[in-house]
Amino acid sequence: MSPRSRSYSSSTSSTSRTTTITVSSLLISNSTPAPRSRARAARRRERRPPGNQQLLRIRLLTSTTGTRPCLRPWRETGDAAELVIPGWQTMSYFSDISNVCWFMEPLFDQQVRRLHRTVGNAAVDGYHVLVGTGSTQLFMAALYALSPADADQPMSVVSTAPYYSSYPAVTDFLRSSLFRWAGDANSFVGDAYIELVCSPNNPDGAIRDAVLSSGAGKAVHDLAYYWPQYTPITRRADHDIMLFTVSKSTGHAGTRIGWALVKDREVARRMTKFVELNTIGVSKDSQLRAAKVLRAVSDGYAAAAGGATRHRLFDFGRRKMVERWRMLRQAAAASGIFSLPEETSGRCNFANETAANNPAFAWLRCDREDVEDCAGFLRGHKILTRSGNQFGADPRYVRVSMLDRDDAYDIFISRLASLK
Ligand SMILES: Cc1ncc(COP(=O)(O)O)c(C=O)c1O
Repeated sequence: MSPRSRSYSSSTSSTSRTTTITVSSLLISNSTPAPRSRARAARRRERRPPGNQQLLRIRLLTSTTGTRPCLRPWRETGDAAELVIPGWQTMSYFSDISNVCWFMEPLFDQQVRRLHRTVGNAAVDGYHVLVGTGSTQLFMAALYALSPADADQPMSVVSTAPYYSSYPAVTDFLRSSLFRWAGDANSFVGDAYIELVCSPNNPDGAIRDAVLSSGAGKAVHDLAYYWPQYTPITRRADHDIMLFTVSKSTGHAGTRIGWALVKDREVARRMTKFVELNTIGVSKDSQLRAAKVLRAVSDGYAAAAGGATRHRLFDFGRRKMVERWRMLRQAAAASGIFSLPEETSGRCNFANETAANNPAFAWLRCDREDVEDCAGFLRGHKILTRSGNQFGADPRYVRVSMLDRDDAYDIFISRLASLK
């Protein structure tokens, strides 16, 4: 649980009685309990048996999150995304020894390719699909695969600021001699590098291309958010290494499944080697679950031809994100002290219409002269965000998750609008 975690009493709608909720939230509750009730709540929490964890609603809003607004369509999907795994299944380390990625379940490979063909966001023909424990593992695998083992110097890993805060953290946490974080790609001087290109970008939603172009340089494209609920699908991406994840495409962050589309066989082999050395493969149970979930999404669109529009995940997600961005822009305007990136739009080949960019995070700037630390200012008004300086940027900016639950998002909006 992050340091932001706090416990407080709140009324649950289902039982309408006071219940302890552990929360790591964008919002600090208005109804902070009195010390005595807080102590009682802590005692109740300690007494609660571990199996009762479902009583705890855990929100991870200001850090990387699952996609909460995606919860509703999954509740309505019925058995289309359900999975029963008999005790005797998925016992071996191996899945398909004829595949470069020998621990990948063929069903998962099929459903990844099918979904990309349905959406048209990435080329899959001629690519190796690799599975990872989240795309985070495949990001590390790519660094390992692209860094020569015999180089004098560690490979420099760069990304244009503001960049996803995990890039420097994950690159440097084991202090590898193969690679090291070298900061903003725009100020990098040299020929050998790995450039991380996140598009749409976390934290500011910008559509990005690589900024460096040396022959010895390599790019890894993190396309976690290149899905129709967040951005128009303007082209079929065909980069050498592309990373995706169910965390952002379908909202199943807890399944811990990501995938890479890799052109070059040797790079695919080295990335696979990393996963082998790191975790001897990837949970088959999770792969099968992810395959089922991806299949349900594609089926929603196949069935859509027959009219089953209820199960079109991306349509639901896009409507939700459009509505949230509308609310946020109105709140920022009502407040008068915040600015947001301009709205951009493009022709979406998937939706076959012009669509706006609706990033999963808002990159909010506080324009008040006397506020240099926007995160601190918002914290003082019971709104928790992540400071721009965690993304290699100015602390006048903060990153706000657009993927919280409806009730928390509504409170956030009304608090933001009231700030002057
Ligand atoms: C840009 C980006 N890439 C990767 C990830 C992590 O994905 P996964 O959950 O698959 O490890 C995140 C999570 O927030 C992200 O924002």
